[in-house]
Amino acid sequence: MEITALGFLWLLSAFPLTTQELVRLKVKPTLSALCGKEVSLHCNTSSSQRGLLITHMEWSQDKTPLCSVNSEEKLTTYKRHSPSDFHCKYTDGSLSLVFKEVLPPESGISKPYRCKLHSNQGVPHEYTRVELQECCGPVESIVGSDGPSCTFNRVYPDGDVHWFHSFHNLSDGSVRHNTAKSVDKQGWVTIRSWLTIDDSLDWRNSVVPYNCSLKSTVSDRYIASTLVQKPEHDGGKGYKICSQGNINIFLSFLFFSLFH
Ligand SMILES: *[C@@H]1O[C@H](CO)[C@@H](O)[C@H](O)[C@H]1NC(C)=O
Ligand SMILES: *[C@@H]1O[C@H](CO)[C@@H](O)[C@H](O)[C@H]1NC(C)=O
Ligand SMILES: *[C@@H]1O[C@H](CO)[C@@H](O)[C@H](O)[C@H]1NC(C)=O
Repeated sequence: MEITALGFLWLLSAFPLTTQELVRLKVKPTLSALCGKEVSLHCNTSSSQRGLLITHMEWSQDKTPLCSVNSEEKLTTYKRHSPSDFHCKYTDGSLSLVFKEVLPPESGISKPYRCKLHSNQGVPHEYTRVELQECCGPVESIVGSDGPSCTFNRVYPDGDVHWFHSFHNLSDGSVRHNTAKSVDKQGWVTIRSWLTIDDSLDWRNSVVPYNCSLKSTVSDRYIASTLVQKPEHDGGKGYKICSQGNINIFLSFLFFSLFH
């Protein structure tokens, strides 16, 4: 029995071109995804030999197939329970998985996407990991009866809210502030923060807006910011700066300079 196994091993090493090495898959090991932006995962077949016959090719995640092609090049897409919208494309041995946008639960190191090929020249597979960049969506701000408040929507992955008034950093403990966080079913975090300011500070008559800023817990950078002012100053709307909307920075500067 042992001799047979040894003989088999010898046979394998005598013919180093096993079927495994004839065909390879080319994928990007990691892909960076911007929030709300389309992202494409390509899986390209490359063979050193002629006569490659693909019998099956598929993209999957967590052993759940997302789409596949059969030997007749018929493409099948499997809709899953997750809310993210995707489609697949196939041409000449390249299968692409295209997401309208990548959601937090489907990204990260621990959630690789696998491309697998079945062919007459081997059965290789490769992984692509999608890293969602930190981000934030719309920011809302209002001045309530107790003080200013702001809400950061569609935040990823997480952040801390800091308040400023002119050059004063209110996070030093001089003013009480509260924060509430929640995660929606798509994995986005909503962060609401509000100040409770003592009336003796006469904050209601302050013409200087409160600055409410979100500092990412990952990069330690301020990724979003809004100025909170009384409705008579700006119609109840705050200004927003988001790391992905540079135009907003310019607009809020313009606004700020016009009114101050
Ligand atoms: C795969 O092919 C596509 C389309 O030809 C190309 O855009 C992409 O960069 C290729 N990807 C890799 C990992 O080779
Ligand atoms: C404001 O204060 C907080 C808490 O002490 C600190 O973490 C943060 O870095 C400060 N921000 C600035 C811009 O000074
Ligand atoms: C608010 O303060 C932070 C921290 O100092 C700063 O990075 C940000 O630009 C300010 N935001 C606005 C809208 O002025």
